[in-house]
Amino acid sequence: MSKNASGKLVEILLVEDNPADARLIREALAEMAEVSFNLECAGTLSEGLSRLGEGGVDLVLLDLGLPDSDGIETLTRVRTEMPAVPIVVLTGLQNDAGGVEAIRQGAQDYVRKERVDGRVLARSIRYAVERKKAQRRLEAYQTRLRSLASELAVAQERERRRIAIELHDRIGQTLVFAKMKLGELQACIPAGAEDKLSGMQGLLDGMIGEIRSLTFELSPPVLYELGLEAALEWLAERIEQQYGLKVELHDDGQPKPLGKDTRALLFRAVQELLVNVARHAHAGEARVSIWRESDFIRIEVQDNGKGFLSDEVLSCAGERDLFGLFSIQERAAELGGELKIKSSPGEGTQAVLTIPVTRTWRAKRRE
Ligand SMILES: Nc1ncnc2c1ncn2[C@@H]1O[C@H](COP(=O)(O)OP(=O)(O)O)[C@@H](O)[C@H]1O
Ligand SMILES: [Mg+2]
Repeated sequence: MSKNASGKLVEILLVEDNPADARLIREALAEMAEVSFNLECAGTLSEGLSRLGEGGVDLVLLDLGLPDSDGIETLTRVRTEMPAVPIVVLTGLQNDAGGVEAIRQGAQDYVRKERVDGRVLARSIRYAVERKKAQRRLEAYQTRLRSLASELAVAQERERRRIAIELHDRIGQTLVFAKMKLGELQACIPAGAEDKLSGMQGLLDGMIGEIRSLTFELSPPVLYELGLEAALEWLAERIEQQYGLKVELHDDGQPKPLGKDTRALLFRAVQELLVNVARHAHAGEARVSIWRESDFIRIEVQDNGKGFLSDEVLSCAGERDLFGLFSIQERAAELGGELKIKSSPGEGTQAVLTIPVTRTWRAKRRE
């Protein structure tokens, strides 16, 4: 154990199978003046993982080539088992490319074993610990933001439904009643007023129709009354009327247990994807397929249009204020699902949205 006056004791786990390399690291660690540490060693990945499982390790110095695991896989396994522990990867001679790759895959830093000395290690350890803390804060913030966005989307959908119901029940029904009453007047109006009466009836009919389509626009009742598949049929017709885009719908006929909030989310996602086809793809038609695959529900929206550089668009969606696909991605992730897009210029676009049924069931119980 080495301890200085100022710092907190850092518990370091060295996972290294080569005794000579392990000695180099030990000597370098012993030279460190700025970091107080306690060192433990493991010669294999499984030994390392079982020590990590006991808890209390603040940082791992990780050799990637071990008897029971090799390369980036070693790093991935440590990260998966212990996502909160910072990792400094030990690379061999002139292996900066390997080190950079390790950082891309989630290591906080790398040091070259043959160059290692107390100063280099102390700096790397301090940076790695601080970097990891900052990353964890960012991840926690991202998770909260994602869940806030999702809550907002659900709240918005519920509010739309509430307004749609009010519109239908209060205004729509009252107008229908007013039209009936007006009809009763027909027998007793003075001669010559028939045109005025039928003009008013026409106006009322128009208003009843407007209220009805506004209600559907806000929140299609079919989604709640008959389910997602029926709502998608309605949507397909609507998109064809609005944009002239022909939409073919395929359903595997399997039961798709979905909570009403999740159903609304999927409906809005397909709507966004179809509007994208209509607005951006210049496609003749689109195909929507919905099917159940063990514990997942998948919805595919495909077009034969001009395609786009989907990776580029998605990776900088926030910067360019493009929120359509980004928001589907985020909301799917919040439900434990994902949105995958395959597209390239001239090749058309295929978007597949996957939502796990199990999580959806849980969501359903909450709803
Ligand atoms: N089906 C598609 N075909 C061609 N381009 C598409 C398609 N879907 C999306 N895009 C491209 O991806 C971009 C991002 O889409 P989106 O996030 O929905 O934002 P918005 O529709 O507001 O532009 C679009 O601006 C368009 O360039
Ligand atoms: Mg869009």
